[in-house]
Amino acid sequence: MKAGVAREALDGERRVAATPETVKQLTGLGLAVEIESGAGLAAGHSDSDYRHAGASVVQGLDLGTLDLYCHVRPMEPSTAAALHRGAVTVGLGSPSSELPTVRALARGGVTAFALELVPRISRAQSMDALTSQALVAGYRCVLEAATRLPRFFPLYMTAAGTIPPARVLVLGVGVAGLQAIGTAKRLGARVSANDIRPSSADEVASMGGTFIKLDLETAEASGGYARELSADRGALQRALLAPHVAQSDVLITTAAVPGRRAPLLVSREMVQGMRPGSVVVDLAAESGGNVEGSIPGEDISITTADGCGAVTLVGMRDAASAMPADASRLYAKNVANLVALITKDGVVAPDFGDEVVAGTCLTYDGEVRHEPTRAALLTLGDPETRVG
Ligand code: NAI
Repeated sequence: MKAGVAREALDGERRVAATPETVKQLTGLGLAVEIESGAGLAAGHSDSDYRHAGASVVQGLDLGTLDLYCHVRPMEPSTAAALHRGAVTVGLGSPSSELPTVRALARGGVTAFALELVPRISRAQSMDALTSQALVAGYRCVLEAATRLPRFFPLYMTAAGTIPPARVLVLGVGVAGLQAIGTAKRLGARVSANDIRPSSADEVASMGGTFIKLDLETAEASGGYARELSADRGALQRALLAPHVAQSDVLITTAAVPGRRAPLLVSREMVQGMRPGSVVVDLAAESGGNVEGSIPGEDISITTADGCGAVTLVGMRDAASAMPADASRLYAKNVANLVALITKDGVVAPDFGDEVVAGTCLTYDGEVRHEPTRAALLTLGDPETRVG
């Protein structure tokens, strides 16, 4: 069977869904691999690296001939429509925001696996792209802050005087937040953090951070995810966080609630209450923002309340893509591990009796199998969306 690997078309996307290492893994499964010329360049892999690993390099994939299509970003509806009935796709699908593509995949009878849907169980960790990419993003956002902060992160005791460590506050302690804490600690900062899931307190401590306990009800849903706070609770949380934000040199926000807009944790007034020169990095900027006024891909200068200076508000965009080599190394392994799970003797044949396979499947044989996405399509009045 033939597997194709796309050269990502989206502006700013520098990752690739296969590395030479995973091409070897895929060919070892009995698949013939084609990759688009230049697909791995930004991640540090030349066409000849892929050829040496056993892939054929082509100028453009002939989509209709592929049995398996591997990608990073959600594909365009036209790409989905060009695949043949029964073809299998593996990549990020953004099911909730890419409904036209989901519709095209279902109508075309494509079997699509969306890596966002990988169940969060131990056996599936090697395929969990949300985790691998959040790791990269959490690391990266600390570096973005460090290069903008007009002072050191670590404590320095020098002949010319002592420099205290920077104070870093992390809000939202999932995978990205924990990586941010670890990275800021390694740079020598004094780190504190808050999350509304009670279990996060121990995780913060294990990374060397100090957990800030707020007098606020906790909000943990199934699967270890957070629940959305009511408007009142959200306002109370902001009021309780304000003094901690004001004392920080760096604020990093990574809070998310699955399927919802990112919660607003920090108002403009709270940012204005920080000291001049402070830096705020909003990793949730692309999903609505944890910080009022953040814009993905932009730095905004916000004058402090005392009028003496400004705080830099960084709206992160494509955070994982900013480190394409290691982000791709991890992502490509996630893809290859899922492909290995659904391939036997060179034939891609998903076994839906496997909970990881079933849970990750977005569309199959004309059906939208992911319940929330199917509901969203039905709300749009899509009579052709069959119930699985
Ligand atoms: P996420 O990206 O959905 O959210 C990031 C963080 O924001 C979460 O910790 C959440 O509690 C927090 N948050 C939401 N609303 C907030 C608010 N108002 N104030 C403060 N914080 C708020 O989370 P992620 O990184 O996907 O992790 C979710 C859970 O899944 C965690 O418990 C994590 O340990 C778990 N997990 C389990 C895995 C496995 O078992 N294989 C793999 C990866 C994560």
